[in-house]
Amino acid sequence: MKHAFDIHGSQVVISDELADFSLSFGKEPSLLEQLYRQLWPEEKNPRPSRLAVLTDENTRRHCLPVLREVLHEEFVLLEMPAGEVAKNIDTCRQLWADMLKAGLDRHSLLIVLGGGVPGDLGGFCAATYMRGIPFVFLPTTLLAQTDASIGGKLGIDFADVKNLVGLFSQPALVFIYPGFLSSLAFRQMLNGWAEVVKHALIADAGLWAYICNLAAPDIVTAADWLIPSIEVKRRIVEADPLERGMRKLLNFGHTIGHALESLFLGTENELLHGEAVVLGMMAEAAISHRFGLLSEQELNDIESYLRSRYPDTSGHLAKADQKRFFQLLRADKKNRAGSIRCTLIGPIGEGHYDVEVPEEVVWKVVF
Ligand SMILES: NC(=O)c1ccc[n+]([C@@H]2O[C@H](COP(=O)([O-])OP(=O)(O)OC[C@H]3O[C@@H](n4cnc5c(N)ncnc54)[C@H](O)[C@@H]3O)[C@@H](O)[C@H]2O)c1
Repeated sequence: MKHAFDIHGSQVVISDELADFSLSFGKEPSLLEQLYRQLWPEEKNPRPSRLAVLTDENTRRHCLPVLREVLHEEFVLLEMPAGEVAKNIDTCRQLWADMLKAGLDRHSLLIVLGGGVPGDLGGFCAATYMRGIPFVFLPTTLLAQTDASIGGKLGIDFADVKNLVGLFSQPALVFIYPGFLSSLAFRQMLNGWAEVVKHALIADAGLWAYICNLAAPDIVTAADWLIPSIEVKRRIVEADPLERGMRKLLNFGHTIGHALESLFLGTENELLHGEAVVLGMMAEAAISHRFGLLSEQELNDIESYLRSRYPDTSGHLAKADQKRFFQLLRADKKNRAGSIRCTLIGPIGEGHYDVEVPEEVVWKVVF
């Protein structure tokens, strides 16, 4: 499998061969070489002044050895703690300090080897360090490969609100190597699968029909669903890079999902991003039905699909602090002048963004 496209100056390559990425200096310049030439065209032998690789503790263990096999270059290793709890300003402060200590300047390149958390945070730190240094994503989770690494949204959580502080800035290159997924826990595969389902529901009825017949996501069939899923994201962010309109389609399941994710963050009932999005999609599909957009049959299909694949998530709603949930929901970035806005769907494969939803309706479908 090899598939490549460009989004607003950011090259995205999906390849079964990690070697395509690395430095080769053969007849065909590797992607990294091409990138160096593009970033520093004035130099005879273009290279970053420092090459740095950011991992978390898990990607350091599972993915860095794989990368080392093909990346025959010296690099500075930077590490952050794993998981959503680390996606905060304290980790940024530490990373900026480590980047400075390692001597990174504006001619340095940061490679982020990790999932959506190191991606969002590492990209944010790179895009703000010295007013921005180039960065590359090597996404290692399904969630990051199908969604988070594409489109240039970077940021961190702040004051219990997901992604409150951040910016748009495109990675110079996104290299998607599905082989990294082989060490990923099944719960994490399902976490990313939620975004594949979302892409199908908002924009690709054919993909929805295909995944309905798959018992579980696996890497063997990845070419059949990963590329169409990434294609949905590509089409949308290309048309609307700064989320003025159409990109809001990608928020299906996320208005309610983000509030639930923030609510349980750091507790023993913590939800992974995709799990929160699953609950959000069930609620927002139910709202879509109430609003006459989605038929009862389609709603039933979606609910039974998600319930059977994510049996452990539904118990969370009974544990939710309802008052805090609504406070978090009102703080969502997608709202305007205090009213709650959701992306709804119907029929399957078609999304509708910026739909104002009264709080009573949310209350009825969630609790
Ligand atoms: N920027 C965007 O457009 C966008 C879109 C969707 C989600 N997100 C963000 O993405 C984040 C979630 O991403 P995530 O689920 O990738 O989280 P993550 O980066 O925390 O990864 C999940 C876990 O898997 C581990 N891991 C990563 N790769 C591994 C591998 N190959 N083998 C074994 N373990 C591995 C990590 O260490 C971590 O413990 C959230 O913060 C969410 O807000 C961003």
